[in-house]
Amino acid sequence: MSSSPLSQMGRRIQEPAISWLMRLTLSRPNLSSLAAGFTDNPSLPVRETRRLAEAILSKASTGRAALQYGSTAGDPTLRELTSSHLMAEDSAALSKPAKRGAYSTGRMLITHGSQQLLYITTESLCDEGDIVLVEDPTYFVFLSILQSRGVRTRGIRLEKDGIDLSHLEEVLESLRESGEIRRLKMLYLVTYFQNPSSVTTSFEKKRAALALLSRYEKHAGHPLYLLEDAAYRELRFEGADEASALCAPEGPERVIYAGTYSKPFATGARVGFGLLPEPLHTACLRIKGNHDFGTANLLQQLLAAALKSGDYASHLPHLRARYARKARAMAAAAIEHFPKCIEWDPPRGGLYIWALGPKSLNTGMKSAFFKQALRAGVLYVPGELCFARDLSRRPSKSALRLSFGGAEASVIRCGMERLGCLLKKCQ
Ligand SMILES: Cc1ncc(COP(=O)(O)O)c(C=O)c1O
Repeated sequence: MSSSPLSQMGRRIQEPAISWLMRLTLSRPNLSSLAAGFTDNPSLPVRETRRLAEAILSKASTGRAALQYGSTAGDPTLRELTSSHLMAEDSAALSKPAKRGAYSTGRMLITHGSQQLLYITTESLCDEGDIVLVEDPTYFVFLSILQSRGVRTRGIRLEKDGIDLSHLEEVLESLRESGEIRRLKMLYLVTYFQNPSSVTTSFEKKRAALALLSRYEKHAGHPLYLLEDAAYRELRFEGADEASALCAPEGPERVIYAGTYSKPFATGARVGFGLLPEPLHTACLRIKGNHDFGTANLLQQLLAAALKSGDYASHLPHLRARYARKARAMAAAAIEHFPKCIEWDPPRGGLYIWALGPKSLNTGMKSAFFKQALRAGVLYVPGELCFARDLSRRPSKSALRLSFGGAEASVIRCGMERLGCLLKKCQ
């Protein structure tokens, strides 16, 4: 038989890089993996979760409620607590009360990780051939979603405090001139301790980006959204918090805010959430209805109990201190072992260091350097995976994303030393 039984998407989809990276990490336990975005294993809240689960299951009424299906939008208590938590964070960052409306539980959706929110948002907004703007570099798993759905991408240069606004304007203007602005749907930003670069976007930049998008809406003929992925917001161990884009004047109508409890609490529970304006909220709710008609109820109840009991709040400082230590270990190893031609910034939160080599360095998946690193027993994420397919510029091939999240300090030091040796040979 000559024709494929698969749908267009089934044929188009490629193996997500995250799958083989995770497989490689798990199948070679002796590898110093600085690649996977796993969280710090020893800090996972086993004791607290056991206590919370026991409390839920100790009574038939709460136990049965948790073991029953819930609603598609998510557990009302978890939505309420999430909304209050986020509003308090934004109010503190703004030094004044944030406007309540943007955080209303009626706009919230609890999802299976924030990954599901990214997926269903894309599904509800984008048709094949539509365009999404992303940071250069960006979260490579989101690029896989876009690729699988046939969505085109344009990269916007990233600076130390978020995207280069003049480049954003240039790209919007070129899309207007070519008429393709009608296919533009959203700008996707990972705004806190970005995966992969660790850059945090200032509130000013978010506000200015939204104002720019709003100026181009009349050419697009429809709203242009900002999808703010705040996956690493809670993992801040230095500096002040930035308010979310929800606090900008256009925020409540144009921002889709994606958050998660995976990174700051129970990674394996995969409970995420989103705040969405209409008509997106309704569309995403219906799509989620078709996907799974609700995130696992027991896990939502656990998260709600963690927030209510104060376990979540008391876990955060402990977690931040651990990541600060690991980030310092990685930074110290980079200072000691990396040659001067490798540029990187000490992280202030999140899980990553983005190390950028000279143009002559090729760290790509098929490169000799990547193979040598594997032979030396160290794995990193090749930076090239984090660049959108955008023919208007040449993606950098000389970067490495290094994660200090899952690895122990000794593994971090050993992996960085091995990488440093290889990098020195490439000088
Ligand atoms: C930037 C970013 N967004 C979203 C996610 C998804 O995380 P989860 O689905 O566990 O919430 C990740 C996971 O690594 C991430 O790095």
